[in-house]
Amino acid sequence: MLIFGHRGAPGYPRRAENTCASFRKALRSGASGLEFDVRRCGDGRLVVLHDETIDRTTNGRGRVRDLSYGELRQFDAGFGEPIPLLTDVLDEFGGHCLLNIELKDAGIASDVKRLVLDRQLDRHVLVSAFEWEQLQPLCPEIPIALLSSKLRNLVSSARELGAIAIHPRRNMVSRALVAAAREAELRVHVWTVNDPAEVSRFRDLDIDGIFTDFPERCSTSAS
Ligand code: G3P
Ligand code: CA
Repeated sequence: MLIFGHRGAPGYPRRAENTCASFRKALRSGASGLEFDVRRCGDGRLVVLHDETIDRTTNGRGRVRDLSYGELRQFDAGFGEPIPLLTDVLDEFGGHCLLNIELKDAGIASDVKRLVLDRQLDRHVLVSAFEWEQLQPLCPEIPIALLSSKLRNLVSSARELGAIAIHPRRNMVSRALVAAAREAELRVHVWTVNDPAEVSRFRDLDIDGIFTDFPERCSTSAS
């Protein structure tokens, strides 16, 4: 079972999310993949950050789209680390583990595709989004996964769009969903799973991977 560090390893005290330090911590803690969120900042560059603003995760304030990367990188995203560029993360972690790039903004897929293909990382990434149509420019070169918190049309849409995986929320997962995914030759990666007992349940269901804030806790029980 793949263990994706969800935004790195944010479950650990004093570890920030979506920073290179958090990604390193996740890998040291047994993660076999990294999940992170990508947005476009004010000067057009792609940065790794979950929220629309930097208020929650840094010591700054403001909307990502209103700030240049030169401005963004002055803020502390945890342990004195800056918000990383997507290129920083691809260059440090690309090829070392599976990278799940989640698109948080519309209209960034083509730029993500170019950066991934420039680095020949197309077999080392999986790009996902809740807004499924945003994934279209990536196909067929880059593997895609459909994220959802609702079951409706998930498996059939994944097939139609050429996805290789579905990413359902943990409360959606049942034997029936796994069977439907298997029938459609789709992998199933579940978010966000932090309880080792639940990891065992997903292993019993033959789930392909989980996203967790606590890779150490979950990789121990899942290995
Ligand atoms: O990709 C799974 C999970 O990251 C989706 O939710 O809000 O943590 O980006 P969120
Ligand atoms: Ca995410």
